[in-house]
Amino acid sequence: MKFKYLMLGLACVALSCTKTSEIDRKVDDLLSRMTLEEKIGQMNQLDYGSVNDGLIAAGKVGSVLNCVDAQKVNAMQKVAVEQSRLGIPLLVARDVIHGFHTIFPIPLGQAATFDPALVEQGARIAAVEASSYGVRWTFSPMLDIARDARWGRIAEGSGEDPYLTCLMGQAMVRGYQGDDLSKPNTMAACAKHFVGYGASEGGRDYNTANIPERVLRNVYLPPFEAAAKSGACTFMTSFNDVNGVPSTGNRWLLDDVLRGEWGWDGMIVTDWNSAGELIAHGFASNLEHAAQLSLDAGVDMDMMAYAYISNLEKLIEKGEVKQAQIDKAVRRILKLKFELGLFDNPYVDESFAGSLDYCPEHLEAARKCAVESAVLLKNEGALPIGEGKTLLVCGPLADAPADQLGTWCFDGNPEYTLTPLQALRKYYKVLYEPMLAYSRDNNVSAFPKLRTAASKADAIVLFLGEEAILSGEAHCLADLHLQGAQSELVDYAAACGKPLVLVVMAGRPLTIEEEIGLSDATLYCFHPGTMGGQAIAELISGREVPSGKLPVCFARSAGQYPLYYNRPNTGRPNTGHELLLDQIPLNAGQTSTGCQSYYLDAGYGPLYTFGYGLSYTTFDYANVKLSKTELKPSDVLKVDFDLINTGSYDADEVPMLFVQDVTGSIVRPVKELKRFNRVHLKAGQSQHIRFELPVKELAFYGINDKFALESGEFRLWVAPDAASGEAFNFKVIK
Ligand code: GLC
Repeated sequence: MKFKYLMLGLACVALSCTKTSEIDRKVDDLLSRMTLEEKIGQMNQLDYGSVNDGLIAAGKVGSVLNCVDAQKVNAMQKVAVEQSRLGIPLLVARDVIHGFHTIFPIPLGQAATFDPALVEQGARIAAVEASSYGVRWTFSPMLDIARDARWGRIAEGSGEDPYLTCLMGQAMVRGYQGDDLSKPNTMAACAKHFVGYGASEGGRDYNTANIPERVLRNVYLPPFEAAAKSGACTFMTSFNDVNGVPSTGNRWLLDDVLRGEWGWDGMIVTDWNSAGELIAHGFASNLEHAAQLSLDAGVDMDMMAYAYISNLEKLIEKGEVKQAQIDKAVRRILKLKFELGLFDNPYVDESFAGSLDYCPEHLEAARKCAVESAVLLKNEGALPIGEGKTLLVCGPLADAPADQLGTWCFDGNPEYTLTPLQALRKYYKVLYEPMLAYSRDNNVSAFPKLRTAASKADAIVLFLGEEAILSGEAHCLADLHLQGAQSELVDYAAACGKPLVLVVMAGRPLTIEEEIGLSDATLYCFHPGTMGGQAIAELISGREVPSGKLPVCFARSAGQYPLYYNRPNTGRPNTGHELLLDQIPLNAGQTSTGCQSYYLDAGYGPLYTFGYGLSYTTFDYANVKLSKTELKPSDVLKVDFDLINTGSYDADEVPMLFVQDVTGSIVRPVKELKRFNRVHLKAGQSQHIRFELPVKELAFYGINDKFALESGEFRLWVAPDAASGEAFNFKVIK
């Protein structure tokens, strides 16, 4: 039997190799028939609003972004296939970031599910919907590690942890690209923004990022390496410079690391006009120079800078770039188009376009994802609320169908959004008093009627947070308090003497310690998408039980950022000794505050740590056992434990394995996530669980600038979050 499977496996490998070599032959043949002008045309990507039939027929465009109308896509393709000299089809692209028409929670919310399989399903659904309109390339997954919630784009990634971001990114690549890229319902993935964009100084978008190479290699590069190794077809260069070199012109990054060290040979596209921005960076003297630097760095396709289309021929004539460089780039572009089946099948079936949009299966997956992405931050008995009761529903996000979809939601139709107000009406008698029209609204004139309204209700459910426009690209905030008069609204609501439930919808962690303190329960929903309202209503009623876990730390104050759990210990770790401002006596002695690492006005740690999230039930972690406490580099550490649902609700839990390398050749994080999985347990049920961790995964980029495993003392925790659990010691011996 085994022999049969072996032969089958070999046959598949042989078939895929044949397919690849068949495609390589076709690419070589086509390339040999192309003029220089036609080759450069393939390296040019234009927005749909900037393209016309003349440019397409002349072979001056290789890819078009932002056309999502099947008829218009086919019309463009018809010109490319029938009127251009060689009939090379266009590659149509779109930012399909967290769903196409059926919108899933923003990626930060999807990360909070700690459920890669569900995230993969969401990406697959996005590909099915978008490709039916002719979109065959998405600019996703966004893999930027983010440790600063002031940065609006924290919404688009998977948070602060490299391991979680690796798994979520790989899940999205699998979902988008499917098991056969040539099928018409797939999209090429794009690992972006390569690299270090999330470290933009001050959390201000597009700003410089200064990242020591060891931190780059231990934190920011791993998710991209994982995406490259899992077959992501394309990469996108980031707007920022890393240590003074803009990514779009960074040959070390693109050629030495991505293509050289990782052996990845996919297609690299710039971000929007990021080649042109090399001039503003002060890295290129003009657009011709920018084109040369980008091509020399290894960029294959120029998005909307007109750098390649208007300068490469000149640069060839001047001998400043080589024909071979252009051939390499065009080969990658053509290869991708062949792999996507565009030469055999350039047109989209217009009769099928959109036929699966918002279908029950897609909406159900979006609902499930919204349920699993919601994080219960506090619950002092207020949740769940028995159905049939009377709820006073307030706040600017209670019935905000567009804002609920979150940032980067070009194609989601708010008409399909199920808002909390609409969904709660299915289970409760609802009194609705918005009180504020939108998150930045300062009009408090309705507040006085709150008390009267509350007197008729069993509980108040207040929906707060951010409008979608306050989240995402170019939407950074220096202050992360609730906008407008939302905080005052919480004060008013808290004074009504009824159970107060806060539901926050935002694209980032907000600093809401006081508001949470005034609530009896707080549920945090990172802009939850089309089915967010249904999910929230089911969580409030107890039909669903909260299980989301924070993919980022929540700060007490924006001043604490950058803030992350997998931090170095420092030489003065805070030992919980926090003499805060109002505790410091007058004329206190210079060293009386303890000389430890903390803020006098914000303390030390986060308000909530990575992995934090409550349930309606409780879980116990017991009988943790290590297979060995002295391990060799070739060993696999097995960590066994029992997880028990000690409460009265069936629910999911996400046990996590954290490891600390106690002493290293460079300072090491106090904890690093190494394993997790989502487990469903009935009330009272226990399950034996095993994490397996190959010791070699404890290697890191150390003092000798090599990835190496270092022997010595280690600690591990099996816990629900980065602040809990009992430490277990083990050693790695050489
Ligand atoms: C934007 C973003 C990038 C996006 C691209 C195309 O500016 O930085 O994430 O994919 O342009 O829309």
